[in-house]
Amino acid sequence: MLMFVISVATFVCTSTARPSENYLENRFTAENESQEVRSAAIKRLLEVFGMDDPPAIHGHKQPPQYMLDLYNTVADVDGVTKDPYLLEGNTVRSFFDKLRSEQVEFSFNLSTVARTEKILTAELHLFKLRPQGSFNRHHFCQVSVYQLLDSSKTNNTQEKKLLSSRLIPIHSTGWEVFTVTQAVRSWMMDEGNNLGLHVVVRTLGGSQIDMKLIRFASGRSHHQSKQPMLVLFTDDGRHSAPLESKDPNDTTASSTLLQAPRSGPSSRSTRSLDYSEEEGVSMPCQRQPLYVDFEEIGWSGWIVSPRGYNAYHCKGSCPFPLGQNMRPTNHATVQSIINALKLIKGIETPCCVPDKLFSINLLYFDDDENVVLKQYNDMVAGSCGCH
Ligand SMILES: *[C@@H]1O[C@H](CO)[C@@H](O)[C@H](O)[C@H]1NC(C)=O
Ligand SMILES: *[C@@H]1O[C@H](CO)[C@@H](O)[C@H](O)[C@H]1NC(C)=O
Ligand SMILES: *[C@@H]1O[C@H](CO)[C@@H](O)[C@H](O)[C@H]1NC(C)=O
Ligand SMILES: *[C@@H]1O[C@H](CO)[C@@H](O)[C@H](O)[C@H]1NC(C)=O
Repeated sequence: MLMFVISVATFVCTSTARPSENYLENRFTAENESQEVRSAAIKRLLEVFGMDDPPAIHGHKQPPQYMLDLYNTVADVDGVTKDPYLLEGNTVRSFFDKLRSEQVEFSFNLSTVARTEKILTAELHLFKLRPQGSFNRHHFCQVSVYQLLDSSKTNNTQEKKLLSSRLIPIHSTGWEVFTVTQAVRSWMMDEGNNLGLHVVVRTLGGSQIDMKLIRFASGRSHHQSKQPMLVLFTDDGRHSAPLESKDPNDTTASSTLLQAPRSGPSSRSTRSLDYSEEEGVSMPCQRQPLYVDFEEIGWSGWIVSPRGYNAYHCKGSCPFPLGQNMRPTNHATVQSIINALKLIKGIETPCCVPDKLFSINLLYFDDDENVVLKQYNDMVAGSCGCH
């Protein structure tokens, strides 16, 4: 399956134009299933997912509910992006607090964020617990988040800088989100700046409230599902050249070439089909299933979702005359005419290739066991056409 993914990616046209050579190639790789070939192929696939090595995961960790919910909002069950305009960037990273302090101080290790990654938004997520004690005279409290500064370094008398401040109902419980983008940007510029965040709660009159009364869950003494968390929305700058339209509304894809998968597409039946193509009874260009199974590849340890996805592939012939359902380019139409007229030797029929591609989403553990949601462009063939 894996070798098939790669050969489809690189030899889409060749496989239809020269089936017998492709057959020999398949046989060769089948006979020579050395570990080297397999690991080289998997390494190349990792590069497609923007990684050098598969993250090493120790034990089974529970991903934050926030990240699971975000994934389910952005992606369908196969990981295909539901709404391409929902996320501003292409990456969302979550970090748990490393300090696990009883004081309301938090520290996050951002060593897994690439220098080139653009920080769009950073949020501190805190779980507010039921207050202890009574606050008969107060209904709201003012919660302020500060960035801790190194006063010796900045030549500044201030030890902290206000990032975000909000009124919160005293008796509320649940997640509270504070924007801390400025602080994270300064940490990204100089790791030494990362001294953490500090939270102060005051009455509306401005006097500080004891944090034993107004409480936020800490990593030390509360359930894992309530741990303080930093969430970064970033863009890693990986963008691929767009095909014509990526409008998910464009339904031409589902109406014309998207046909039901053939039953029992084993490699053997594919081969015999290739032979019949040589005899000139090939099927027209159409989209066929191509399931990429992460478990089969050995990645199920670090990928949370999806378990795999249907990348689809384009298969079939593009003979003269090309109907509009073949979604031909003008160039392909002319090429098929030249081929039919046999005006010039060696001009093949046009290629059956993806003409619309969709992105998929991966929810996974990184090297530091933080949960990351990443979007990858152009991973699923949405429709096929003769080009
Ligand atoms: C695999 O192919 C290489 C050359 O591409 C060859 O040197 C090697 O002996 C083959 N391995 C096996 C197990 O056939
Ligand atoms: C952050 O994490 C990395 C990788 O786990 C580690 O090498 C580094 O020492 C950590 N930094 C701090 C300040 O703890
Ligand atoms: C340090 O403070 C002095 C006096 O306030 C000021 O002139 C100087 O520019 C400051 N240096 C830096 C690096 O901020
Ligand atoms: C998608 O289609 C719906 C229903 O036809 C329409 O309301 C919506 O504006 C369309 N969105 C885009 C981006 O074209």
